[in-house]
Amino acid sequence: MSCKPGEPCHEGLKRRRALAVLGLMAILFVALSAVSFLDSRGQAVPSQVGYAGFDAVEGKRVFQSYNCMGCHTIVGNGAYFAPDLTKLYDKAGPAWLEAFLPSAGAWPTSGAVRRHLQDPAIAAEAGTDDLDAYLEAYPAAAERIARRGGKATTMPNLPLTREEIGNLIAFLKYTSQMNTEGWPPTPAVDGLSFPQATPLPAALRAAATATPQEGAAAAAPVSAVAHGEALAVDNGCTACHATDRQRLVGPGWGGLYGSTTTLADGSAVAVDEAYLTQSILDPDAHIVAGFEPGAMPSFADMLEAGEVAAIVAFIRSLGETKP
Ligand code: HEC
Ligand code: HEC
Repeated sequence: MSCKPGEPCHEGLKRRRALAVLGLMAILFVALSAVSFLDSRGQAVPSQVGYAGFDAVEGKRVFQSYNCMGCHTIVGNGAYFAPDLTKLYDKAGPAWLEAFLPSAGAWPTSGAVRRHLQDPAIAAEAGTDDLDAYLEAYPAAAERIARRGGKATTMPNLPLTREEIGNLIAFLKYTSQMNTEGWPPTPAVDGLSFPQATPLPAALRAAATATPQEGAAAAAPVSAVAHGEALAVDNGCTACHATDRQRLVGPGWGGLYGSTTTLADGSAVAVDEAYLTQSILDPDAHIVAGFEPGAMPSFADMLEAGEVAAIVAFIRSLGETKP
């Protein structure tokens, strides 16, 4: 401390004042540090959030290991290539997420969501096993199904296991429960119009929302081909496969049955029932020449044997190549 020459220098007073301020700051520092260790002050705690027996902390690890944040925003962090996922569990619900994540290449249809509601654990989390009640409780699911159900998405199809999906949904349930003080802000992008989000043509929409056969036991019997067609639309196959010979994400189905497919390893295989069945249950067993492995999700956990047979019958109905 310097005093001008000839002026009174209250050195002791100034030193005491400085020390008093320093002491006050030190007390505040220690007190606030202690408060910051208090248990989360009413916030959701990931270790206390469970979803159908799956774990939110584990889900965060899955989220990081697949680098979901490289494309998505969550709780204010991440990239802006893909939608904010913070509150999606709240808005779209568990059954919609269960339908989306295993085959993210296509948007789920109502049939796919209904199928997941038949799982008692998922229905318990959703609060209902009835599709109409579900769509009312989770309007974002209803909107996504109506506007985009069955269409292709720009999200990559990740090879997620059942366990990883359950844990991811537990993590998204946790972020939904966080008090984010209103983040992400409204208006959310839901409800705005996007070119990709134009409604399906009426015929496709009717097929997309058609009740699958097992739900309508008393209804008139549906032929295997018609059942297979509804299932193919329902499960998003037609987002990647054309019913003629055109190449979409995957090969066209027109004239496929009875033909000979050339595989990526150069071998040739006759397309019969067994080959088609294996292509659906274990897509990477044979990779068609000109395509990448991993592009098509396995439907082994989503389709029953009778359903696979119906889809195979439908593919066969799209034209047979006679040897
Ligand atoms: C390469 C970028 C990319 C990665 C990595 C990625 N996503 Fe996506 N995801 C997208 C895009 C793009 C969309 C929007 C698709 C569309 O609108 O067609 C999307 C959509 C979604 C949706 C639906 C969002 C909504 O509002 O309807 C969910 C849920 C989702 N992703 C979860 C995940 C999870 C979980 C991971 C990690 C395991 C992940 N994504 C990794 C790009 C990505
Ligand atoms: C995300 C896109 C995608 C979805 C959804 C999808 N597939 Fe595929 N599928 C592909 C791709 C890509 C290939 C070629 C690579 C391979 O052989 O795995 C393929 C191959 C096939 C083949 C072999 C075709 C041939 O020319 O030999 C059949 C059969 C098939 N898929 C049926 C289905 C059925 C049935 C569904 C729905 C239950 C379905 N796919 C859903 C992308 C998809």
